[in-house]
Amino acid sequence: MRTIGIANQKGGCGKTTTAINLAYSLSIRGQKVVLIDCDPQAHATMGLKVKPSGLEKNMYDVLTPTRSEAAGIDDIAVPVNEHFDLAPSSVILSAIEQELAGQPGREDRLLQAIRGLKQAYDYIIIDCPPSIGLLCVNALRACQEVIIPIDMSLFSLRGVAKLIELTMMLKDELGHAITSRALVTMYDSRTKYSRRVLEEVKVEFGENVFNTIIRYNIRLRETVDYGLPVGVYDKRSNGHNDYERLAEEVMCVAMAQAQVKEHAEPLSQDMLVKTEKYIDAVMKQPVPEGTVFDMEEILPPAYKSSYPEMVQAMGYGSLDAQSEDEIEFEEYKEEL
Ligand SMILES: Nc1ncnc2c1ncn2[C@@H]1O[C@H](COP(=O)(O)OP(=O)(O)OP(=O)(O)O)[C@@H](O)[C@H]1O
Ligand SMILES: [Mg+2]
Repeated sequence: MRTIGIANQKGGCGKTTTAINLAYSLSIRGQKVVLIDCDPQAHATMGLKVKPSGLEKNMYDVLTPTRSEAAGIDDIAVPVNEHFDLAPSSVILSAIEQELAGQPGREDRLLQAIRGLKQAYDYIIIDCPPSIGLLCVNALRACQEVIIPIDMSLFSLRGVAKLIELTMMLKDELGHAITSRALVTMYDSRTKYSRRVLEEVKVEFGENVFNTIIRYNIRLRETVDYGLPVGVYDKRSNGHNDYERLAEEVMCVAMAQAQVKEHAEPLSQDMLVKTEKYIDAVMKQPVPEGTVFDMEEILPPAYKSSYPEMVQAMGYGSLDAQSEDEIEFEEYKEEL
């Protein structure tokens, strides 16, 4: 059994998209997979057409500090296909960080739940939230491998540095070794900026970056509305092809299988504080010299703002307009 976390504190870099589509591509290769949604946003849950409000139990019930009432992952698992189960999340999971604070073994709740699994899985994929708190630490404690999606932004790279530091701390303090591997997502080879970030990533990670690159693909964006893996929505799309390649690479790559020590000490509160301080420091880091980009070049066409067109279409005048029009434009934006 391999347990793989998908993590990066940078929001919107493709964690959930990777979790859903990697899990799906592994499942259609006959691998038995469970995708654990560890994010209170429940995007992986909704992305698989499961309505969090319609569920009796979810990951909150698995991780709850009230152990007598705790559910097992088997109890909450929802089948997606013959080989693919989902352990769903819900917004209530956001309460868990506070509820677990001060509890002994709070960082090991997920690890214990995975150890208690009755169903045998080949792969456990964990979708992490875009923050480094107890949920992410629980996920890292439970996995031997972490895939770090990197979209084409320097913030994303900084998120990687942070995550690697955290995994190194886990190794130093608990002897829990995790193999980290970066995955380039939303790659648009047409832009100089994308090509430059890709070079930086290759230099920074060397062997620790997947050969597979997930291209920017509009189908991956569209599937969210349909709650389907891209392979079901459009199996001829680049998005599906890329995740197929990733699944092959994950299955072939000899990612070191670290042994989780049986009697690991719980993480200290100090370590969490240290981690949060580091995040603050990272956020304050100035953008390195020479990174003045042309926004038009950075953003793939689908991301470009349509404000100017919308404003004009609604009769608010052009963006160059003065005073009153500008005020109206600001009011209009607030209304949105
Ligand atoms: N390769 C891609 N091409 C185009 N759109 C993509 C691609 N990967 C992800 N997206 C879209 O980008 C958005 C963010 O992706 P996703 O939800 O996977 O990111 P995330 O890292 O899980 O976000 P969060 O940090 O909020 O959990 C979604 O709308 C998704 O459909
Ligand atoms: Mg997500």
